[in-house]
Amino acid sequence: MKETSLFDSLLEEPQKPSGPVTCLGMTFENDEARRAHFTEELRKKLQDPEFRKIEGFPIGQDEDILNLSDPPYYTACPNPWIADFIAEWEAQKPELTEDGYHYHREPFAADVSEGKNDPIYNAHSYHTKVPHKAIMRYILHYTQPGDIVFDGFCGTGMTGVAAQMCGDREVVMSLGYQVKPDGTILQEEVDEDGKKVWKPFSKLGVRRAILNDLSPAATFIAYNYNTPVDVAAFQSQAKKILKEVKEECGWMYETLHTDGKTKGRINYVVWSDVFVCSECAEEFVFWDVAVKIGEGIVLDDFHCPNCNHWLSKSPANPKTENSKPTSHRRPISSKVERAWETFFDDAIGETIKQAKQVPVLVSYFAKGKRFKKKPTDFDLELIKKIESHSSPKWFPTFAIPKGDKTNDPFAVGITHVHHFYSKRNLICAAEFWSRLPRKLKWIATAFLSRNLTKCNRYVVNSHNLEGRVNGPLTGTFYIPSEVVEQSAIELFEDKIINVGWKTKGNLVQTSSATSLPEIPDNTLDYLFIDPPFGANIMYSELSFIWESWLALLTCKNEEAIENKTQEKSINDYRELMISCFSEAYRSLKPGRWMTVEFSNTRASVWNSIQNALSDAGFIVGNVSVLDKKHGGVKAMTNPTNVKQDLVISAYKPNGGFEERFQKEAQTEEGVWDFVRTHLKYLPVTKRQGVLLLMVPERDPRILFDQMIAFYVRKGYPVPISSQEFQVGLSQRFIERDGMYFLPDQVAEYDRKKMTSGAPQQLSMFVSDEASAIQWLRQLIKEKPQTFSDINPQFMQQLGGWSKNEAQLDLRELLNQNFLCYDGKGPVPEQIHAYLSTNWKELRNLPKDDPTLVAKARDRWYVPDPNKAGDLEKLREKALLKEFEEYKEVKKKLKVFRLEAVRAGFKKAWQERDYAVIVAVADKIPNNVLEEDPKLLMWYDQAVTRMGGE
Ligand SMILES: C[S@@+](CC[C@H](N)C(=O)[O-])C[C@H]1O[C@@H](n2cnc3c(N)ncnc32)[C@H](O)[C@@H]1O
Repeated sequence: MKETSLFDSLLEEPQKPSGPVTCLGMTFENDEARRAHFTEELRKKLQDPEFRKIEGFPIGQDEDILNLSDPPYYTACPNPWIADFIAEWEAQKPELTEDGYHYHREPFAADVSEGKNDPIYNAHSYHTKVPHKAIMRYILHYTQPGDIVFDGFCGTGMTGVAAQMCGDREVVMSLGYQVKPDGTILQEEVDEDGKKVWKPFSKLGVRRAILNDLSPAATFIAYNYNTPVDVAAFQSQAKKILKEVKEECGWMYETLHTDGKTKGRINYVVWSDVFVCSECAEEFVFWDVAVKIGEGIVLDDFHCPNCNHWLSKSPANPKTENSKPTSHRRPISSKVERAWETFFDDAIGETIKQAKQVPVLVSYFAKGKRFKKKPTDFDLELIKKIESHSSPKWFPTFAIPKGDKTNDPFAVGITHVHHFYSKRNLICAAEFWSRLPRKLKWIATAFLSRNLTKCNRYVVNSHNLEGRVNGPLTGTFYIPSEVVEQSAIELFEDKIINVGWKTKGNLVQTSSATSLPEIPDNTLDYLFIDPPFGANIMYSELSFIWESWLALLTCKNEEAIENKTQEKSINDYRELMISCFSEAYRSLKPGRWMTVEFSNTRASVWNSIQNALSDAGFIVGNVSVLDKKHGGVKAMTNPTNVKQDLVISAYKPNGGFEERFQKEAQTEEGVWDFVRTHLKYLPVTKRQGVLLLMVPERDPRILFDQMIAFYVRKGYPVPISSQEFQVGLSQRFIERDGMYFLPDQVAEYDRKKMTSGAPQQLSMFVSDEASAIQWLRQLIKEKPQTFSDINPQFMQQLGGWSKNEAQLDLRELLNQNFLCYDGKGPVPEQIHAYLSTNWKELRNLPKDDPTLVAKARDRWYVPDPNKAGDLEKLREKALLKEFEEYKEVKKKLKVFRLEAVRAGFKKAWQERDYAVIVAVADKIPNNVLEEDPKLLMWYDQAVTRMGGE
């Protein structure tokens, strides 16, 4: 299927007359009557002070909330009808044919950037977006038709579009699936013989979506994406408005062709900064001296066109200044100053001062072609004339609140929202806005906050020798030296074509995901979320332009970001995310999954997310890395080394586990119940093509950490030591290739292994003691070897050792964690197995055969769980001894053993000595604490408990 076919078919759809509609059990004469009824209901609800106290309630007038809303489907505030819809949807769920439906899914990860060329995805921009086609794969994997999907940070509402499209055969097939006539969806898999086969995995059918975002701009966009568009009516209405505005404002975009008589239509005008020479104080136009059109060059240093003094746009390099000038060094230059203009801004009744910019290039259409020229007197006169013109229509004039991203506009005198526009674009945008009905306003929002603003860049570089329009720098309000003033009329016209979809019936509300009182407990079937990541993007700041036009602003109190102006640290961010995840956990049905998309950012933010997830009660079933270079997804081995996009799959346990756990928590049985339940949720195998991969979550150490985290967060002491855990695990569950399985899982694993061979080890990155041990375990397990064989390989791994981690001697690492065969007694099983498989002459020899013993002597091997227990006891003793020293020292700890701190914290936790945890945590560098999930967990819990006592 062609990417555009859905859109094309919608374009041809005839306009339907608005007839009777049914909504929440009520029938209305038409859709307008439905909206009128629920708008009155919402008006009443707005009088309720308790309703207004819901976290994230937007800032604005009631009338603006009502104008924007389309209740009961969309509310520009919390949506009071969500519970009613959930009840209705549950009752309408299709009957499931299997006898006694049993929901069971394994964690799933797929590329989250798939579908970025889709015309629907591109119809309206946002600060970041996950394409609906990428989300569809997740929804199809985790849900059945009719299931309820929730996205608490919905942005543009792509999750809703995806939920709807799961019922569209053509779109589902465009993802590479097959769909049988009865709606069964099949995906291609590699079977045990390495052959490609089609296997059923989901059913065609629309899913329901509930969408939530803190920002009224986001929910307004999401509402539009989730409301069917009658394209014929939409287009004719938009074109009528375009015609009217052209008649009203067309004269402002006229120009004269170079023949001096043909009228042209402006496409865009480039404006350049004007600077003042620091030597002769003359003004000059940056474009004239520094921008080399045709050569693709913009100079940073240049001569003053008046006095020839050597000038620079960026601050002179102090090193160069202090050193002797040589021919190849950049010579000493003076930094240019901006030229300023002062004028009266009648919109706010104030005299204001702004950085001076002048028009330098006009791009226009004439005689059916595009041309570029230098502005002529005609153009300059026209601009003067427009400057003296006032807009007859309303436009927003809010002062821009100070934020982390507002220094750029403030630095050039842009202090109020309307300053982001040229005068003619402002007048023209106001004309459009006043004419656009609510459902069409988003044609304007599609460009009002981006290409229409003074953030729009004209780039000239080696790829664009002549220069081109490049749009604003994402995530900022950066005002470039060469601003493009794109015609509002052209931008509007551009945005009319690409809109059309059938999504309907989904719910959208404006509220904070930290508190969702409208959603009842245990009612949602699946959650897909893409939350903010620390300080990556300042959503409320960047949405301010849109929201000024909508006259409704984001309530920032609960905005889940790190932001200096809002005085929100990484800890505040974590607290907010804990609240969001707790609400998500509460509303999700037990046994169901949540997918969290996590974009590339700092390790501390990644840790905050992991901690917040566990604090809320979720158990992480899998973390996958999206491999942008080679495509596909990989299991994640090193959680602190976050460079790529991650997909986290977390579940809420079911099967009465929570209730049982309450009773069993203090006993060892609780531990095994946890492990049994958890193993059920883990994938049995992972593959890359025909290759079998390790499933790291089945590793005994990772299982132990998961168990501890669960106990600690529930506030219980852990009833079992790591040694007892290892032994108990090996007695109760079945081990294969260093991973643990339930009995019914192991049969499947063995079958797959028979055809695919042993699993591929995951590549490891050694950065500290813990990862070094893991690396050694992998190395020796595969091949027991002597110290002199191990040493050179180990040395090669040490390049990325953390600067705060004490360097450990290889001997010590080996002694504390592994065993060495000294030639006494029978050859240990692991060495024996290795030697007899690799040396013909050593096959079938008894374990005390002298040749075998000689070959086995001095080789290091991985102890079996019983012996490992003894070793670990010794190691723990040594670690705790070290921790005692950390307790005593008065100074901050710069270099130390993280493993010792972890062991010490665990012991202190068991002894309820929270003060020790906090005291030692205060001595270690902040970043180490923030980047280590285990330490952070003990520390957070200790602080909470100390506060509560
Ligand atoms: C990464 S964006 C989501 C983009 C979305 N996936 C899309 O495709 O358009 C994160 C969103 O979280 C919203 N947000 C921030 N704090 C929030 C909170 N406390 N509750 C709900 N939404 C919040 C922001 O407004 C932003 O729209």
